[in-house]
This record gives sequence, structure tokens and C-alpha cells, in this order.
Amino acid sequence: MHCLIVISSTLLFSSGDALLAPCDSQIYCTGEVLRQVQMAKLFDDDKYFVDMTLTTAPEVVLEAFTNLSSVFPDKAVPSLELKKFLQTYFKEPGNEFERWTPTDWHSKPNFLSKVSDSKYRSWAEELHSLWKSLGRKIRDDVRDHPELYSQIYTPHPVVVPGGRFRELYYWDSYWVINGLLLSEMTETARGMILNFVYLVERYGIVPNGGRVYYERRSQPPFLPLMVERFYEATGDKDFLRQVLPALEREYSFWMQNRSVDVVTSELTHILNRYNVPVDHPRPESYSDDVELAEGLSTEAQKQLWMDLTSGAESGWDFSSRWFIDDTGRNNGSLRDTQTSSILPADLNAIMCRNERLLASFHRSLGNEEKALKYEKALSARIKAVESLLWDAEKGAWFDYNLVNKTRHLSFYPSNLAPLWAQCYSKSEMSDQAVQYLRDSGGLDYPNGIPTSLSDSGQQWDMPNTWPPLQHIIIEGLSGLHSAHAQELAFSLAQRWIQTNWRAFIKYEAMFEKYDVSGDGKPGGGGEYEVQLGFGWTNGVALQLLDQYGDRLSSGGRVPVCSSALIGLVYAVLKSLF
Ligand SMILES: *[C@@H]1O[C@H](CO)[C@@H](O)[C@H](O)[C@H]1NC(C)=O
Ligand SMILES: *[C@@H]1O[C@H](CO)[C@@H](O)[C@H](O)[C@H]1NC(C)=O
Ligand SMILES: *[C@@H]1O[C@H](CO)[C@@H](O)[C@H](O)[C@H]1NC(C)=O
Ligand SMILES: *[C@@H]1O[C@H](CO)[C@@H](O)[C@H](O)[C@H]1NC(C)=O
Repeated sequence: MHCLIVISSTLLFSSGDALLAPCDSQIYCTGEVLRQVQMAKLFDDDKYFVDMTLTTAPEVVLEAFTNLSSVFPDKAVPSLELKKFLQTYFKEPGNEFERWTPTDWHSKPNFLSKVSDSKYRSWAEELHSLWKSLGRKIRDDVRDHPELYSQIYTPHPVVVPGGRFRELYYWDSYWVINGLLLSEMTETARGMILNFVYLVERYGIVPNGGRVYYERRSQPPFLPLMVERFYEATGDKDFLRQVLPALEREYSFWMQNRSVDVVTSELTHILNRYNVPVDHPRPESYSDDVELAEGLSTEAQKQLWMDLTSGAESGWDFSSRWFIDDTGRNNGSLRDTQTSSILPADLNAIMCRNERLLASFHRSLGNEEKALKYEKALSARIKAVESLLWDAEKGAWFDYNLVNKTRHLSFYPSNLAPLWAQCYSKSEMSDQAVQYLRDSGGLDYPNGIPTSLSDSGQQWDMPNTWPPLQHIIIEGLSGLHSAHAQELAFSLAQRWIQTNWRAFIKYEAMFEKYDVSGDGKPGGGGEYEVQLGFGWTNGVALQLLDQYGDRLSSGGRVPVCSSALIGLVYAVLKSLF
């Protein structure tokens, strides 16, 4: 065990530091309108209000609210009055978009012919068709009058996840783009990447999603991986040259604003964490965050909101992964969320892949000096990951707890992310990690790998199973030389595709997450109802159908899918958007 001292000045925000609001808008991110409307719970989901559009300039809306408040001195504006106020000054969410049918969609992309099971092939065709209903174009009015919208304008159309997720999302888009490229929708994929480049140029980060209330937090940094897939699919070097400066700028953001120096007896290691300097309730989950923090000191409330926002940045919002209780253990409840005190295995694996990619992109363009710079960063990263996250006894990588300087030894699929990223120096480590997975208990479920073995009621925990996590493990295993690992990858793919398929037959929909047991049903828990559509689910399913299409089989265990059902899917999805 190393003796560790954490020295980074950015480790903890000292008390009294003025941190930031989620954004500068006094309607969407801070202030009395937000507070009173959200705390009055006029809508089922707090995201509804912050997605509404203003009917007139924000100054006027704020003044009207001040006027209204003065009628009710020293108390909140009554719900009925708030509703009238909203009817006058706000419009329903959704009018910032136009439906947009991707112009590069065509009915017979090549990969379909690789799917030999005929039921799966027709299903793959349906999934391929879903891109048409998930396409959105932002109206010019959002560009011309940004002050009236929480929507952030982006110049190119987007494919959205679906359901309450009406706008673009960062890490979701990686799997969406993978799916689009299989669907031969290169122009749509290019536009989505260029939107992210535009956002990096504007904000210095890729925000969590396309709304102002997301602008100060990011999400797992998948932009370089999107570019990798696009470049593999197109070989377009000019595109690479065009986007590379934004990739480097995003990388600097993670290294300057989201890193920690950890001193061991031998070396100072630099690793990354999720850590958003915003100490307010999340506007889109405002009342939840306020209620969760009730009874805490002002200081503790701010810290909790910062850690919840950082949890949202991690993509795992929320999970027992981020719990650290009073005794420093990875235990507790949502109130014990301390995301910023954890060095996550998956984030550092992604950074490892990004460093390798930045080196290789520069090499492709002939910038040898830059390539060497990122290779140096990569080897330092591998050393840091091996020193702090790798556990030789357990044979896997674990999140590192900065409070108690220990690794969190619970099972999470993210423990295998460094395998997927090939972020290790010795091939025995991959054998050990495969063995770890086999012994972890994570393979004991019929429908996929659970998000954790702890049923906390949060959505990134038992019993939910999420598409991106399946994909990361399957891709990690299938990239190894060992035939056993490859067979395991196939069996996990078979399991996952059957889960998606059975739920599709039964519920006529693709879900954002599934339940790890039962005969194909959506997941639950967390802050909102399960959503359907669904971008990353469709993307991962298409990728697995492409990769294993000659072997996957729908078997005899599921009812026959009638075309009437497929018609219904359309009706359901149409009514949603
Ligand atoms: C607020 O009240 C003032 C004073 O009565 C009035 O002049 C102004 O027009 C009101 N503003 C709005 C937006 O209603
Ligand atoms: C990163 O941190 C620096 C220094 O603290 C700050 O000035 C800058 O705005 C931060 N960048 C972003 C994108 O948040
Ligand atoms: C974590 O650190 C605290 C304070 O230093 C200590 O009281 C506690 O026993 C530690 N917990 C564990 C699990 O090591
Ligand atoms: C975890 O916390 C619960 C209460 O929240 C407690 O009952 C349990 O003993 C704790 N487990 C460990 C290993 O500390």
C-alpha cells in the first residue's frame, strides 16, 4: 500500500468560496421564479418548467414576477397565480425544435444483410427507421433570440435520445453516432460531431446536454471517440484536421479543471475526476435537490449540490458508486453522494483512450511532436492508473476514494473500463480482469450485467442494466486475444440483444435501461419515469447486430412479432414527440 498525500489545491473548495450558478440566466438557473415554480411542483417533472420558452424578454418576465410577488408580501405566490403567470409569460416545451427527417437516411444500409436471423433482421430495420423519428432541427429563432430559450442553439440537426431528453446529450451521442454510421448516415453523424466542436469553441467544454442549465457541467468525454469512429468510417483527414483543435481544447479542460495531483512515495500522479464548481440545486431537478438537502448546514447543502451536479457530470446520476458515508466507507444513501472525492475508473480509462487517440490523430496528420506529447501523457496515465486504481489481489481496477485513500472494492461494470481502454501495461492484467469479471457476481443475471450489486433505489444500481455499460464490457472482451474472452463477449451480446428484443416485443419500444431479471422489462428507480426512444439503446443494439449478426439468434423463446405490433411502435413514438 502506498502512502498517499493529496496535494492538489483544487481538491476541496474551501469554505466561503463563491462558486458558480448552473448558468447566468435568472430564470432558468437561479432566482425566485425558478425557486417558486419548482417548489410549487406544478409539473410532474422539474425538467418541464426549465424547458419552457419565454413569450417576452427575460427582463420583462422578471419585472412581472416582482410585481406579482409584491401582491403577496412575505409569502410564496399561490399556485393558481403562478399558473396564470406561466400562461402569460411561458410557452410549452418543444417549440424550439422542428421535426427533421435526416436527409441521408436510406432504407437498405449494408449491415442489415449481415443479420442472418430473419426476425432480428426485420427488427434491425425497425431500429434503423427510428432515426427518422429522433431527428430534430433547432429553429432559427433560437439562434436569433437565445434569451427566450433554455435550449442552446447548435448549427446542425441532432438525433436526440427520446422521451424527456428532448435535446442533444453528450455521452449518449457516442452510441447514437456509432449507430448512425452503421446506418450509413454519415452527414448526420458529421453534423452531430460539428455541434460538439461548436460547443467546445463556445463554452470550453462539451456541456452535459443542449440546455443552458447544463452549460457548466460536462459528461464522460467521448468526443475523441466519436471522431475516431467517424474517421474509421470515412477516412476524412480534412475533417480530422478541422476538429482536432477542439479535441485538444476539451482535453485541456479536463486536465486543468477536472484533475487531482496525488503524491505517492515515488511519484506525483495526475488523475481525473468529476467535479463541477456549481453549488446550487440542479434547475431540472430543483425540488429533489432542495428536499434532499433539508436539515443540512448551508455549507453542507452547497457541498451536496456540488457533488450531485458532479454526479450528473459522471453520467451515473445517481449511484451507490458515489456514496461515501461518515466513516469514509462506500456506503450510505443519496445524501452521502461525494462524487468529487472519487477518482473514477471509467473516466480515467476514457482519458487514457483519448490520450492514445490524440497521439494517433496527430501522427496521421504528420504532427510528430504533438503525437509524442500525448504518448507521454498516456504512459504517465497508465502508471497512475496502475498505481492507484489497479488492485493486483482482486485483479481489476477500482474507483479511488480521496477521503480515505482507499479503493472501493464493490462490483461495478466501470471496474472493467480500463480493460476496454487497454489502459494497462501487462497482458496478464487483462487475464486477471476477465477472471475478476467471472467471479464478480456480475454475470449471474439473465438480462445483462447489472450496474452494481446494491439495490439502493437509484437508477445506476441494481436492478438496472444500461446499454453503454454492456457495450463497454463486450467491446473490451471482444478485443482480447483469448478465445474464452471472445466467447464471453458473444454470450453477453446474445443476452443483451435478447433482453432488448423481448422488451421490444412486449412493450413495443426501446428503453433507456432494462431490468436485469425477468423476461425483458424496462428498468426503474431514480428521479424520473423510464424513457423510451431511445438513442443509445438503438445504437448499441445495431452495433451488436452488426458485429455478431451471423451468430445471434432470436430462438424459440419469444412470441412472434406481428406487423401490427410494429405499426403500434410508430403510433406510440409519434404520440411522444
Ligand atoms: C410592474 O409594475 C409597474 C408599476 O406598477 C408597472 O409600471 C410595470 O409595467 C409592471 N411590469 C410588468 C412587466 O407588468
Ligand atoms: C477552468 O478553470 C479556470 C481557472 O480556475 C477558469 O478560469 C476557467 O473558466 C475554467 N474553465 C471552464 C471551462 O470551466
Ligand atoms: C476514514 O477516515 C476517517 C477519518 O480519517 C476515519 O475515522 C475512518 O475510520 C476511516 N474509515 C475507513 C473505512 O478507513
Ligand atoms: C452501511 O450503512 C448501513 C446504514 O446506512 C449500515 O446498517 C451498514 O452496517 C453499513 N455497512 C457497512 C459495511 O458499513
